Amino acid sequence: MVRGLVFDLDGVLVHTDELHYRAWKALAGRLGLPFTREQGDRCRGVSRMGSLEILLEGSNRSYTEREKLRMAEEKNDCYRAQLQELTPGDVPERTVETLRELRRRGYRLGLASSSKNAGVILTRTGLDALLDRVVDGNQITRSKPDPEVFLRAAQLLELPPEDCAGVDDALAGVESARTAGMTAAAIGPAALAGAGDWNLECLARLLDLCPPLEGGRDL
Ligand code: BG6
Ligand code: MG
Repeated sequence: MVRGLVFDLDGVLVHTDELHYRAWKALAGRLGLPFTREQGDRCRGVSRMGSLEILLEGSNRSYTEREKLRMAEEKNDCYRAQLQELTPGDVPERTVETLRELRRRGYRLGLASSSKNAGVILTRTGLDALLDRVVDGNQITRSKPDPEVFLRAAQLLELPPEDCAGVDDALAGVESARTAGMTAAAIGPAALAGAGDWNLECLARLLDLCPPLEGGRDL
């Protein structure tokens, strides 16, 4: 029985997936390389350096590790400049209501994000107040599709992974949640691909799938 929900951040709780895309696109433009929406979708859930490799697929020259680190830093600077503009208004009202209602129903809520920028996003949007536990890219050694981030979140929520659903918009993320032993709940592009055990057309759909638990809690 599901008692915990573990959410990915970018592209699930807030639309920072679009900001990632724009920052990679800007870097690609400077390097004279293409960067398509399809490449952007493949970067979902993938680490910063892994995403850079996807961008460099279009290049016919090789780069040193130092050059790659410099490029990733350039992208991150551009991305972080956009994050400074984030406000609670960037989280859809329906998302906040859904998280609040799930808490009211007694579910424990966690975050499992590959991003090293999750902290600033959670603080700027106020999402940190709605989550019981947070695991991000600073606390893991292996990025999705490895199950590490979802396993760690379940551990911090003090629930067996089998009692959790992992919600992710990335194919890599859905695989990560499933390998962890969770119910894999896909949303966005991953749901369109039918990758999940649950394929959600929107986050609020969780309210149909997660009935109130015995002894729900007050907010
Ligand atoms: C994931 C995003 O949440 O975090 C990826 O879906 C991103 O696109 C990854 O590459 C790492 O993010 P950051 O913020 O540490 O560069
Ligand atoms: Mg995502």
